[in-house]
Amino acid sequence: RSVEPIELNRQGRDPVAQEAVFVQHEAQGDVHVLHIANPPVNTLRTEVRAGLLAGLNAAKAAGAKAVVLIGSGRMYSAGAEMTEFGKPRQPPSLPEVFDAIEEYPGIVVSAIHGSALGGGLELALACHARVASPGAQVGLPEVKRGFVPGAGGTQRLPRLIGPEAAAKIIVSGDPVKAEQAVKLGFVDAVIEGDLEAGAVAWAKANIGKTFILARNRTDKIEGQDPAAYDAVVAGLLKRTRGQESPKGCAEAVKASFTMPFEKGLEKERELFQTLVSGEQSKALRHIFFGEREVLRIPGMPADAKSLPVNNLVVIGGGTMGGGIAMSAANFGVPVTIVEMTEEALQKGLARCHANWERTVSSGRLSQAEYEKRKALLTGSTDFEGTVAKADLVIEAVFENMEVKKQVFARLDKAARPGVVLASNTSTLDVDEIASATTRPEFVMGMHFFSPANVMRLLENVRGSKSSWATIATATEFGKRIGKLPVLVGNCDGFVGNRMTGKRTPQVEKLLLEGCLPQDIDKVMEGYGMAMGPLATGDLAGLDIGAAVRKARGTVAPVADAVVALGRFGQKTGKGWYMYDEKRTRLPDPEVERIILDVAEKMQVRRRKISDQEILERLLLPMVNEGARILEEGVASRPIDIDVVFCNGFGWPAFRGGPMFWADSIGLKAVRDKLAHYAEATGDANLKPAALIEKLAVEGGSFAGMGAKAA
Ligand code: NAI
Repeated sequence: RSVEPIELNRQGRDPVAQEAVFVQHEAQGDVHVLHIANPPVNTLRTEVRAGLLAGLNAAKAAGAKAVVLIGSGRMYSAGAEMTEFGKPRQPPSLPEVFDAIEEYPGIVVSAIHGSALGGGLELALACHARVASPGAQVGLPEVKRGFVPGAGGTQRLPRLIGPEAAAKIIVSGDPVKAEQAVKLGFVDAVIEGDLEAGAVAWAKANIGKTFILARNRTDKIEGQDPAAYDAVVAGLLKRTRGQESPKGCAEAVKASFTMPFEKGLEKERELFQTLVSGEQSKALRHIFFGEREVLRIPGMPADAKSLPVNNLVVIGGGTMGGGIAMSAANFGVPVTIVEMTEEALQKGLARCHANWERTVSSGRLSQAEYEKRKALLTGSTDFEGTVAKADLVIEAVFENMEVKKQVFARLDKAARPGVVLASNTSTLDVDEIASATTRPEFVMGMHFFSPANVMRLLENVRGSKSSWATIATATEFGKRIGKLPVLVGNCDGFVGNRMTGKRTPQVEKLLLEGCLPQDIDKVMEGYGMAMGPLATGDLAGLDIGAAVRKARGTVAPVADAVVALGRFGQKTGKGWYMYDEKRTRLPDPEVERIILDVAEKMQVRRRKISDQEILERLLLPMVNEGARILEEGVASRPIDIDVVFCNGFGWPAFRGGPMFWADSIGLKAVRDKLAHYAEATGDANLKPAALIEKLAVEGGSFAGMGAKAA
């Protein structure tokens, strides 16, 4: 659907004229059309609600027999204007608009293209009928922002499709396609071709027909067994890891068949109010807006141009190179993997193919789409010849400075001038890698996370000479292949690994002082982490950490003793835990013996350590390092750090990331606790960072800081 862009000059207009701009009213005979025009996503801000109400009243006054609600631009509506939350509510409310729809003497039809989400879908559900363009997305994602639909969605949707089907949509927050919604019964028809014309014709053809409003439907909720509903919901809530909003959603939907409509609305409202003002919802919205904010890079000149990439070359087809190449092909970018030998190349390509084939078998990828992706991915052992045709090169060879420098010297000679050369290094100095070339301004780090075809986080590492065009290219390309690029500075471990690196010594210390692996993981998973640090170690392989310690000349007596017994983690069947055939982790008495043994040898008196202490000793060192990262400008803003953790390190978005967490307990408390643990453990690293000292004295917060260029 192509729609003229609407000129929005709202400055100095009176409120009536503003309504006219946000909702355009057009009579087409018996049918009146109301265009919602609040680009880019038609949120239902006050002026839109007022405009809809005014439009409905005007249509009624003119005797229109049908009204079609339609969105201008890319979609119907993405829902409530979240920036209005927490401010005094301006009338009319959405329920007032819905009342006007439900009392309309005729039919009101929503015509949905793009997406109808949250309040947008609730608006549509209040109408007499809904039609949609093919492939339009409809859903109630409120749960993902930490609250429940607040304008009747949890009461109307179950009345249209039944409570269990509604709970699946509302508890998951995932949208469904219009075609699926027709099958379920909450969209009446899919309209091919021009939606507005089709919807007007559909409305005209249905004038005079009786439509039972969702609120008055009883056929899908009658005789519903609460126990059967609870059983379905229990399945849906399995993976919520302590997030409150999914439970609230399930409870609200339950009210649809255990209470009359008006009471159900009250219940929904009550849950909405409690959840939306809670810390979890604040955290989720912090990350939601943060994921948009990180793409606005402080200091980036408006004219910084990214270079077009239509041919990616990945050097190295191992674990990471293969995953990066798959990401590109998944998003339609032709990509060539360069390997040293034909054998390594074939192995690398086969791994990519096998990965896609598993997705096809599981039904999440069509055979045709697989063939398309497979055709986009090629391989070569001709380094110079392939690189000469590249628009962008991403290197993913062994993590060794000499090897990387040789590769970059060759890339510099072979690649066309102006082509960006990126390294996927996870620990090496990007400036030193760049020094092997004559074009350091075109070199930077693009640090993907494993598995690279799955993980959304991309730390783009800015070298001291990387140009804005280079940074813009890495950013745009990352976005294009479905990643969330966060610009970070060049330092050991960048943001994510540098901060988690400060947690590791505390894990070792806690094990010595009194904890077992399961005690630590239980606390971290109870907080909401996808996986505790010890289980994560077992998954990644404990030999990797041991190799790093060896290279750096550091020791970790407990971890070293575990590795010395050949316990490398899941790949050897045991590590911090033992594993059964189903890879279920089980506490291992042998590990307990190792720990007690080492503690005794080191004369550490073990004691009972509280969950609170475990949590603080693992999270506070990360916050402290985060503060240093901000002082150094390695991250430009606290939100960049939070987005890194919630997208690449299993940090639960409903906790908002480490810096948000620190703010939530208050930086004065953070400073005092750090000082206490520094003293109690004799670990100088835990001394509060200067930035924390400063903000604590000022009564400030991370959220209150300005941005600093990375
Ligand atoms: P890998 O050992 O699985 O793959 C490296 C591949 O590069 C091998 O297949 C090797 O044959 C190839 N290679 C080496 N020199 C080459 C050359 N001159 N020309 C063409 N191919 C060459 O290693 P992995 O795990 O994929 O790591 C690659 C890079 O990614 C490293 O810098 C690593 O630090 C980084 N990284 C690794 C992560 C991980 O979780 N494995 C996460 C993020 C970054």
